[in-house]
Amino acid sequence: MKMIEGENISHAYDLEGSVKLSLEGVSITVQRGELVAILGPNGSGKSTLAKHFNALLPLQQGSLAVAGLDARDSANLWEIRRRCGMVFQNPDNQFVSSVVEEDIAFGLENFGTPPEQVPLKIEQALQAVGMSGYEQKSPHMLSGGQKQRVALAGVLAVEPEIIIFDEATTMLDPEGRRELMETIRRLHREHSKTIILITHYLEEAVISDRVYLLKEGRVVAQGTPREILTDRELLAGAGLLPPLPVQLYYDLKEEGIVLERCPLTSEELVEELAGLCL
Ligand SMILES: Nc1ncnc2c1ncn2[C@@H]1O[C@H](COP(=O)(O)OP(=O)(O)O)[C@@H](O)[C@H]1O
Ligand SMILES: [Mg+2]
Repeated sequence: MKMIEGENISHAYDLEGSVKLSLEGVSITVQRGELVAILGPNGSGKSTLAKHFNALLPLQQGSLAVAGLDARDSANLWEIRRRCGMVFQNPDNQFVSSVVEEDIAFGLENFGTPPEQVPLKIEQALQAVGMSGYEQKSPHMLSGGQKQRVALAGVLAVEPEIIIFDEATTMLDPEGRRELMETIRRLHREHSKTIILITHYLEEAVISDRVYLLKEGRVVAQGTPREILTDRELLAGAGLLPPLPVQLYYDLKEEGIVLERCPLTSEELVEELAGLCL
């Protein structure tokens, strides 16, 4: 089943007389259970697209169905927001309460969860992100990675089918990034969630099933992570640098050292280098 089905989506922000499009004819499909990465430089339209998926922005042109619900029908907006949750970039801007469990409860009540179900849903959501035991803590006392996982618990509590991470690791330190990426990977592998991972850290897209590359509001390429992330010219054309192992592959090639295949991860790089030494 298609969880996101967008055809020819265009969007312009209302900027006094200016007609610059932030999305131009974007078509995108995400199947149930897929982890799809959306890559692109700053200003390429990633967040604008994501905000269409959870009905934060109204559709101006084109068509979009989210979990089978037509985004043009305003009667569906609330249900689309419940089924498609989003974790944002800034860990400090996502909390309404100064107590973790109250914050998650607020979201649940917003979506009409019966009060007697709230405690169990909070417990399950915190468990899913490895934050059990933090119910009474203040979000502001947590590390960046913990904050993002609590924000994610708030999203998970309402049992969305699709979860969007909009540059959710950008403001985290390496440990926080690792924790959040591990949580995302587990949600995908063990809980079969449909995930949209928006990032400009290209190495994060390695875990995705499919990649869309945006540039100036258009989809300029889509394919497997291997197809997209090893194409240095394609990435350069979109103003992006490939992941480090891919850069090393090309740097070595310029020195006359040709690896059998272009590695995507540091593990693959090590394998290729070890192969050279045999
Ligand atoms: N609220 C807004 N008002 C006006 N222009 C905006 C707004 N948000 C984004 N834009 C513009 O839309 C384009 C796409 O932005 P955005 O979707 O945020 O890209 P990304 O998430 O890839 O950095 C950019 O040119 C940006 O300046
Ligand atoms: Mg953005």
